Amino acid sequence: MKKFLKILFFASLLLNANYANSAENSAKLLKGDWSFKSFFGKFDRASLQRGYQVYNEVCASCHSVKYLSYRNLMEKGGPEFTEEEAKAIASNFEVTDGPNSTGEMFTRPARLSDKFVMPYANDEEAKSANGGAYPPDMSVLVKARKGGADYIYSLLLGYEDPPVDIELDDGVYYNKFMYGNKIKMSAPLSDDIVEYSDGTKATTEQMSKDVVTFLMWAAEPHLEQRHKFGFRVIIYLVIISILVYFSMKKIWSRIESKV
Ligand code: HEC
Repeated sequence: MKKFLKILFFASLLLNANYANSAENSAKLLKGDWSFKSFFGKFDRASLQRGYQVYNEVCASCHSVKYLSYRNLMEKGGPEFTEEEAKAIASNFEVTDGPNSTGEMFTRPARLSDKFVMPYANDEEAKSANGGAYPPDMSVLVKARKGGADYIYSLLLGYEDPPVDIELDDGVYYNKFMYGNKIKMSAPLSDDIVEYSDGTKATTEQMSKDVVTFLMWAAEPHLEQRHKFGFRVIIYLVIISILVYFSMKKIWSRIESKV
């Protein structure tokens, strides 16, 4: 027993040391004020719509979201654009279709059923256009990064001048939240780079919040249903517990009275 406790003690020291190390390497993430985080959390519909706008006008020239279709933009639990709005959005993009009756491929405006159009024809083109770095697909990026929404939010706001002792090559930028602090993406956002139609002021912070909300939904489109379901399960469990408690009482009361 003593030996076991000793091992446990040293193991915990080791774990602590590791933890301290990792904390030293990365700056503490900024915490966004997310409407979708809590147990009953829902997406802020207006923020999702603005986030789509930021994605479309800024990020989409480099980053794909290959799992989303234009029809997802009008589905419940998402940005909930109207069908007309979603159709209008889709029709701004061109997709290759075919072959037609003479065997040739042709282009046509995208429809609701089409997937989001990709910025590059293939990975090689994506890399060569970005100094050798691959702009990752954003469909599940929020889930793929430690820190999730807070990490991407922090990254977008984490660009700084490098400390004097750090030299950066061309096309490399200093970001205090990126692993190793060097990133091959220049700061994508700056104040008023988009113009919101609902009158919200397009500060870098606001756009970061909106686009991360949009990316969170892209990665977890059923978050609201999941929260709703979780809530129903809890209500169900509470009711069952009350029923079980009273039926137990009833059953045992009969037995006790016989003794
Ligand atoms: C000009 C092209 C370009 C644009 C525009 C752009 N990015 Fe990037 N992004 C990149 C490249 C290239 C990388 C890979 C960087 C690297 O690995 O060093 C990247 C990486 C990222 C990463 C991953 C960082 C990590 O932890 O690996 C995130 C998150 C990201 N971009 C978010 C965004 C968002 C949000 C927008 C729009 C507001 C955006 N990007 C616009 C090119 C771009």
